[in-house]
Formats: sequence, structure tokens, C-alpha cells
Amino acid sequence: MRRKLVAGNWKMYGTLAGNADLLDAVRSGMEQARNVDCAVCVPFPYLPQAQQKLSGSGVKWGAQNVHQMDKGAYTGEVSAAMLRDFGCSYVIVGHSERRAYFGESSHLVAEKFLAAQRAGLIPILCVGETLEQRENGATENVVAGQLDALIDLGGVQALRDAVVAYEPVWAIGTGKTATSAQAQAVHTFIRQRIASHDGQTAAELCILYGGSVKANNAPELFAMPDIDGGLIGGASLVADDFLAICRAGART
Ligand code: PGA
Repeated sequence: MRRKLVAGNWKMYGTLAGNADLLDAVRSGMEQARNVDCAVCVPFPYLPQAQQKLSGSGVKWGAQNVHQMDKGAYTGEVSAAMLRDFGCSYVIVGHSERRAYFGESSHLVAEKFLAAQRAGLIPILCVGETLEQRENGATENVVAGQLDALIDLGGVQALRDAVVAYEPVWAIGTGKTATSAQAQAVHTFIRQRIASHDGQTAAELCILYGGSVKANNAPELFAMPDIDGGLIGGASLVADDFLAICRAGART
């Protein structure tokens, strides 16, 4: 059986002082929860703080973006090896905010994904449709295109040590969660599409749901057979809420 993963995405929020309390609370709250993997993806400047606060605990940490090249004259960018230097396990690639506000194409996202793996990180590949695309019946096409860009560039084996997060854009930060049935349907589609290349990779792949996951809807979402945990934005900034979601992951 696949193990559940609950990953926080702090986005561009945080302060040294506030993070210290949040990280301490998550660390101590997770001491009891052994049946779930838990991680926080923090802004770059707070990686040393996450490393210092979480080292030796069961809680992993990661980043929210990475450059696609291993090193070079790319002023202002951060490489995957630098993230490993700060003990990161994960990095989010292709979040819908990066696709929408920073023009990241699926091809670029695939390059970032592979750069992360070259450095030993586990990429969390975000996919998902906008409301307009859903209403036009294009959800599966959009998600397929986002997955295929990676499979074309890296082969299906790239998904062996990776996480996919299905995040419908209309559900992110809006309070409108996909129903568990809507999410399950897309997760099944993702798994089947990957299974058409390689059954074992598909069966073992961790597929998270993200988009307004809260403590009250996490149990139902996580009970679905193809939902292997969550990528949590807003609720990951409040220790009690995030811990309640992690506990929901440990129970299902
Ligand atoms: P949300 O964000 O939980 O605040 O909807 C999820 C995400 O953007 O990963």
C-alpha cells in the first residue's frame, strides 16, 4: 500500500520569528504520527531555519521552485544542488502560480523536474486545469499535456522517485475544494495514463491532491483510493490545522 504524504506549501509567507513557532509545533506534533510522511516547502531564505529546526525529526523540508540548469551564470536563480546543500528532500515544480505568473511552460517544468532528480531531490510535479478548462471539458487533455511533457523529456521512469500533485487551479486558495469524487476521477485518469507506459510506476506513484484542503475535508479526500495525501497551502501556515491534516493522512 502507498504511504500518505502531506506536504505544506508556505508560498511567499513567513517571518523568522513566526516560522520558529510553526516549525517547532509541527516537529513536536509529528512525533506521535508515524504512519504518514510530512514535509514543509518553505521560501528559499528560510531553508537554513527549516534545516536547523527539523533535522533529526520525521518532518522533511523542501523548496517551491528550482532552476533547470545545474549551475551557471543565471543571476538570482537557485540550483537543485544548492537545495540539497540545505538538506531539502523535496521541491515543488510547476505550481499553477509559477505557470500563470512566471510563464513556466510544461517543457520548462519538465526540465526543472529532471534537474531536481539529478541532484537527488524528489520533485513534486503540480498539474491541474483552470475553471474555464474544466467547464469546457478539457480537464483530462490539460492534465495529460502537463504529464506528457515530462514523459517525453525524461521517460516514464522519471516518475519512479517523484510525486505528482493534482491541483485544480479553481480550488487553490479559493475555499472551493474539488469534491472527493471529482479529485478521485482525475487521480484515476493520471494513474491510468502513466500505467499505459508502465504499470508498476503508476501503481507506486504518490499522487497528492491540492486546493483548499482543510482539516475538515482532508479525511474524506484522503479516503479515496487514488489520493495519496495532500499539498497544503493556506492551512499549512497554522500548526494545528496542518497537524490535523497530517493526522488525517496517518489514519487513512
Ligand atoms: P491552498 O493552496 O491549500 O491554499 O488552496 C494549495 C497550493 O497552492 O498548493
